[in-house]
Formats: sequence, C-alpha cells, structure tokens
Amino acid sequence: MSESTAVKVDHQRFFVVDFGSQYAQLIARRVRELGCFAEIVMPHDLAARIDDATGVIFSGSPWSAYDDEAPKIEAEVYDHGVPILGICYGMQLTTHLLGGEVDHAVAREYGPARIEVIGDDTRLFEGLEGELDVWMSHGDRVEALPEGFMAIARTPSAPYAAVRHTSKPIYGVQFHPEVTHTPRGTAMLKNFLFGVCGATGDWTMRSFIEEACEKIRAQVGETDHVICGLSGGVDSTVAAILIHKAIGDRLTCIFVDNGLLRKGEAEEVQTRFRDDYHIPLIFADSKDQFLDALEGVIDPEEKRKRIGHIFVDVFKHHAQEVENAHWLAQGTLYPDVIESQSAFGGKSATIKTHHNVGGLPEELGFELLEPFRDLFKDEVRKIGRELGVSEHFVERQPFPGPGLGVRIAGEVTRENVAVLQEADAIIREEIEREGDHKGLWQYFGVLAPVKTVGVMGDERTYENVIAVRAVESIDAMTADWADLPRRVLARLSNRIINEVRGVNRVVYDISTKPPSTIEWE
Ligand code: XMP
Repeated sequence: MSESTAVKVDHQRFFVVDFGSQYAQLIARRVRELGCFAEIVMPHDLAARIDDATGVIFSGSPWSAYDDEAPKIEAEVYDHGVPILGICYGMQLTTHLLGGEVDHAVAREYGPARIEVIGDDTRLFEGLEGELDVWMSHGDRVEALPEGFMAIARTPSAPYAAVRHTSKPIYGVQFHPEVTHTPRGTAMLKNFLFGVCGATGDWTMRSFIEEACEKIRAQVGETDHVICGLSGGVDSTVAAILIHKAIGDRLTCIFVDNGLLRKGEAEEVQTRFRDDYHIPLIFADSKDQFLDALEGVIDPEEKRKRIGHIFVDVFKHHAQEVENAHWLAQGTLYPDVIESQSAFGGKSATIKTHHNVGGLPEELGFELLEPFRDLFKDEVRKIGRELGVSEHFVERQPFPGPGLGVRIAGEVTRENVAVLQEADAIIREEIEREGDHKGLWQYFGVLAPVKTVGVMGDERTYENVIAVRAVESIDAMTADWADLPRRVLARLSNRIINEVRGVNRVVYDISTKPPSTIEWE
C-alpha cells in the first residue's frame, strides 16, 4: 500500500488515550465540538508523543486497572506537566499506577447518580451547580487515593466521584462526562480544556479548509493530476470540491453508473458536478456490464464480488484516460483509520465484503490522497456546508457501494431494479415530506424475492413484496428500527401499491442490528 498522505493540521492537539472503551471516539468528538483538535492515541504510544499534547484525556475501559494484562501507560507521563483527565478506568488506572487502591465495587454502579462538589479547587466544575447529575458505569472503584490527591466531588456511595492532584494538573472522574446522560458533562470537558489546559479553541472547519488546500497543493505539486472516484455520497463529493478548490482542473472525478443507483441519482450527479461545481467528470455508463454480470446470481457475497470486480475494471479503464494522474483521492474518515489501528477492538470477522476501491492504488501505482483522514463524518458535513454544498445533500443518508444490488434479495434483474427504484423513491419522498427523516440513519426500500397474492378491484394479483427499512443508529455498528408515524407508513404503503406496477404488498422491517444487519444482503 502506498504510504499514507494524511493532511495534518497545525493546531493545539488533545490526546484521547483509548483503553478499549466504547466511548473513546465519543470523547474525541466532544472535544472537537468544543473547537479543540482531538486525536485518539493508543496507550503504548502516549509517552513517546506526549510533548505534542496540550492536554490528555484517558478513556474508560472494560478492563480492571489491577489486572496484569490491562492496558497501561508509563507512569512518567504524570510527571510531564501536561494536564491529564482520567475518566472512569482512566481515573482508576491513575490511582493504581500512583500508589492508591482500586478494587471491585461491592455493588456495580450503572446509571444515574448525583454528585456533590466539594473542596476548594472547582476548576473542573467552574460555573456549574454544587450538585450535578452524572452517569456512572463501572464495576471497580477507587478505595484509597494516592499521595497528593484529594476528592473534589462525592456521591453517597462513592467518596471519590471526582479527584485532583493538589499541585499537578491531574484530574479524575468516576462518571462519564462524554455521554448525554451527564447533562453538564460537556461543560466539565470545556472547563478541563479551556480552564485547565489553556485551550484556545483553534480547531475550526474554516481554518481546516485553508490549511488542507495548502497541504494538498504541497503534496500534489505543480503538475500532477488527481483522480477522485465519486460514490455519489457526502465524503467523496466534499473531498472532490475541496481538492478542486486546491488544484482546480487538475482534478478529474470518475463516476461509475452501475445500474444499481437510486431513481434519478445518475442524472443528479452529472448535473451537480458539471453545472453546479464545474468539476471535470468522467461519467461511465456501465449499466449493462453490471446487470449482465448479475444475471442468475442469488448468493449475496457472489453479487458483491462481481459488482466489485467490474467496478475495478471500469474504474481502471477510465483512470488510464487521465494524463499525468498520480494521485487517487479517497474520502477515508478518521473512524476507519482508528479502527484499523485499534489494539483493543475494531472489526474482526467479515460479515459482508464491503465494496470500495481498496485495491486500486497499488494496481495503478497511485499515491493516496486522503484529506479527511483526521475527520469525523459530522466535520466533513460542516466542511461541505462551508464549501457551499446544499443542506439537503450534506445531510443525505449513506448508500452502499453495491447499491440496490444488496437491496434486491435474490436475483437482480432490470425489472426488479426498476420496481425497487420507484418504490424506494416514494419511501424517501414520504418520509422526508414532513421532516420525519431527521434523526434517521437510513431509510429505504428492499425488494423481497417472493410474490404474494392480493386483490385489486375484482382481480387477483400475484406480485412482489416491498419491505420498508428505516433505522436509527450512531455509527451503523448497531441500529434500531425507527418508530415511524403511522400516517407516514400508511401514506407510503398506499402510494407504492397504487403507483408501482408489480407490487401488491408493503411490509415494515422491525429488526434491530444485531442480530440482523441494516442492509438485507
Ligand atoms: P450492514 O448491512 O452491515 O451495514 O448493517 C452497515 C452500514 O454499511 C453500509 N454498507 C455498505 N457501505 N459498501 C458501502 O460503502 C458496502 O458494500 C456496504 N454494505 C453495507 C450500510 O448501508 C450501512 O449504513
């Protein structure tokens, strides 16, 4: 794989040390929302990098600090002078490493609690009430503080709900300020960042855009060309606009129409890029190639493989048309980077083969240009808005690479694609009509490979079933089916059955992930 060419930014940096917590990314996002650049760092990397940090936050962990195999850090970081905030395990580890005592709590504390702020150093609780609701989630607790530490908040059952060092800028909280169940948690994090660490809040999307453009120009040089594969989604579109802003028409986008797009999508991409953004676009109409290759294929993995292979072939063919192209731009996001580096988690089993352009850089000898390697999705959306992308587009739902191919259970035929495109367009239209899509992660139609009996007028019908899938999710790792209003379901069902030829039944998918997945294939 060609060496990563992340666009780095020169800002204050705050490290979130990930001890394997489900909340490490959430902490980093909270810090970024407060205008401070947060980076997730593995425990074993902290000591070597600590000079770069303006402040450090230790995450929670499923481990116990006193376990031999538990992730640890080198105790010298406590003498460095950089402010540290330990959250839950982060506080217990600090206690354990500095000579205090951590043990199993007699009763696990999980859920809401109310802390009372005590002591004279109120910097963490500056401007807040003397009693605060917080969210606890721990099985261990601090039994005795190390020398030099004192309690700054307590609950009736936890004498050390929050602690600090008397002379060093080291703080610890037993509860989770990063979750929304701690209503004043963001204010506490803000107090730590700005009050204790001296943050300046210098992480803004506007400054990111300026610096990213400079860095893209420096990376790509004066003459090289860049190719960007468009998926039609937010990340690759915003990446293309940003790169175009940096190097102008030395960027060429390639969009592959695989015949599995949503209704109107192919035309929309062309209009947007050619007429609105004026970015050079190669539009590869490869519908027949994909649909022919899918004839008779039922197995979901086989479908994904065929779609993936043809995509690579088509993309390669068109990429070779672009002279002097040495760079391939991708909309890789920070969570993808963290997931591949995480020592304590990340994806292990391949549930579904995701279709992307992963193999292309080596095959074509491209360097990778990944301007969003350091960003979360909501930051890419903000950049999109700054760059003038419409709100409707910026907020659009994710769409899988293999498109409707994984939403037609069973064989993909031209007829099935046409039926699903119509039904899916109605589903989207009706859910969006009164804003019911807000808060949904995805909402779409699926064509089930069964026919059922119906009656229209005096006629018996024997036609397709459309399933409506609408889910709420934070990161697609887990998802819950959405409780859509009855009037919306009634309207879309009525419209689909009346307007889409070949459908006589609409069902609503009420499965959570896990154990189901969001897509049907
Ligand atoms: P599942 O179905 O695994 O999907 O619960 C999780 C999220 O990933 C999206 N998805 C894909 N995205 N290429 C993509 O770019 C793919 O092959 C692919 N398969 C699933 C899915 O839409 C959901 O948001």
